[in-house]
Amino acid sequence: MRCYFRRLIYLLLLVVSLVILYQLYIIIHKSINSQSPFIIIHLKNRTYRILSSSFKYNSHESYLNFAYFNVEQRSRVLYIDYLYDIPVSSQWQSSGHLYPIQIAQFGLSHWSRLKLNSKTKQNHIHRFERIQPSKNDYCSSWYIIKNKIFLSDTFIHFTISSNCSLHFQFLNNNIELIYSTMIINDLTSSTKIIIPLQGFPRQVNRHMLIDIEKSIQKILLIKNDFIQIRICGEPNSFINQLIIGNQTLYSQQAFYSATRWLLNTQDFKTGCWFIHVKRNYGNHHQYHLRMPWCSAMAQGQAASLLVRLYSLTKDIQHLLAIRRAIQPLWSSNMTRAYFNNRFLWLEEYPLESHGKGLFVLNGCLYALLGTIDVYTIDPQPYLLELINEIIISLHHMLPYYIHPTISNWSLYDLSHITMKSKINTASDSYHLVHIILLQCLSQLFKKTNFSTSQLFDLYARRFISAIS
Ligand SMILES: *[C@@H]1O[C@H](CO)[C@@H](O)[C@H](O)[C@H]1NC(C)=O
Ligand SMILES: *[C@@H]1O[C@H](CO)[C@@H](O)[C@H](O)[C@H]1NC(C)=O
Ligand SMILES: *[C@@H]1O[C@H](CO)[C@@H](O)[C@H](O)[C@H]1NC(C)=O
Ligand SMILES: *[C@@H]1O[C@H](CO)[C@@H](O)[C@H](O)[C@H]1NC(C)=O
Ligand SMILES: *[C@@H]1O[C@H](CO)[C@@H](O)[C@H](O)[C@H]1NC(C)=O
Ligand SMILES: *[C@@H]1O[C@H](CO)[C@@H](O)[C@H](O)[C@H]1NC(C)=O
Repeated sequence: MRCYFRRLIYLLLLVVSLVILYQLYIIIHKSINSQSPFIIIHLKNRTYRILSSSFKYNSHESYLNFAYFNVEQRSRVLYIDYLYDIPVSSQWQSSGHLYPIQIAQFGLSHWSRLKLNSKTKQNHIHRFERIQPSKNDYCSSWYIIKNKIFLSDTFIHFTISSNCSLHFQFLNNNIELIYSTMIINDLTSSTKIIIPLQGFPRQVNRHMLIDIEKSIQKILLIKNDFIQIRICGEPNSFINQLIIGNQTLYSQQAFYSATRWLLNTQDFKTGCWFIHVKRNYGNHHQYHLRMPWCSAMAQGQAASLLVRLYSLTKDIQHLLAIRRAIQPLWSSNMTRAYFNNRFLWLEEYPLESHGKGLFVLNGCLYALLGTIDVYTIDPQPYLLELINEIIISLHHMLPYYIHPTISNWSLYDLSHITMKSKINTASDSYHLVHIILLQCLSQLFKKTNFSTSQLFDLYARRFISAIS
């Protein structure tokens, strides 16, 4: 009898350990197969992501590591535009300007977030079908949301159909955020933030947290809050389909806001998104950018964004806009410079004097990636020619981007050669941008041109060795 029990216990133990082993096997197997496409790098307290071997680039999937960008939150973003719901930049003009590079990046980051987070669970979503002023009153009574809302989840979407204002009271933070198409002169209370929306009827897509933080120019301290809502305006005004907290919807609409602006503002003749800001380069008072200027990087990133739009719509108008976007890269010298009068470069910041160039590395690589994206949906011979010409330049020029004294560190541009200026060392973040672009290009050429793939891999490795 005893013996029998002992055997039974051994048998049970065996079964249990087999089950545990099997579970372990599944976990390990899974973690090998579902290795993250990114490797996290910590550098001086900041987190960066470069590509791992399981990253696969594709012209209609996420764009590099942009899912981790938060373009709206950057200090260079002054506020979110009142008509287009896209970021307004303060990069080259302190009063703000719409900057195609930033707008394309805004679209690409939201597209990438949608691709990456498609399976994550949504937070609680609040929905109001129709809000309108009370019969005898200019304003409605307050609608109270019963649960606390995390401020990071305050994505809102609504349709504004007439002249009115929509008020949100953040009770614990003591802030009233007002979206209004009317002119509001009530500046008596410093706790009121007014976002002067333009254009109606239209759909509005915003992140309340960003609107507040850009207005008060600081970070909110109380991270979650109770919110109440009301509308004020003429009796026939109303707000439809007010949705709070749907991040997927917000990213989707942000993607469309960016593409809509690009499609509406492209210059039909040249294909450029001209930038009308007067600008010198760095400290070089004698070197002006062309005015207005057409940036190869803007053209390339906008093309990458529109290629992703086209993958959804298959709309011929979108394809034509993509062809126009790439046109200034190959059909004229509008965005180009020649290194040693010979090697073709796509300039992020084209200079006024056509003989001169800055040769900013990341700008040219982004433009190249855009051209490759376009080639995948529209394989025209002139694109292949351009791609090959740039690769020949890179074969010749990449050695110049190695820092002369900091081992295996990269340079931002070649202005020290072409303009005899001080060496322009890449910042940490640009050094990592160089790495990720070279990694991606190396992967893209692996099948079609091995020696080119090797070249990019070699420089990616050198630059990585400087941070590890
Ligand atoms: C990194 O963060 C720690 C703690 O927040 C701080 O003490 C340190 O000065 C930071 N270092 C750098 C290089 O910013
Ligand atoms: C909206 O209201 C403002 C007053 O706040 C007025 O100046 C403006 O003309 C109105 N717009 C339309 C289209 O009714
Ligand atoms: C959030 O928005 C997305 C995109 O429109 C939609 O597919 C999804 O159903 C919405 N989620 C909820 C819970 O309403
Ligand atoms: C661009 O400039 C180069 C060098 O000056 C010249 O050889 C070439 O013909 C020009 N290309 C176009 C398309 O204008
Ligand atoms: C690879 O690219 C380089 C530069 O464009 C070109 O010279 C070479 O012929 C290409 N090789 C192949 C196999 O296509
Ligand atoms: C630069 O990187 C390469 C590749 O990782 C490495 O072999 C080389 O030793 C590095 N050079 C220096 C000076 O650290």
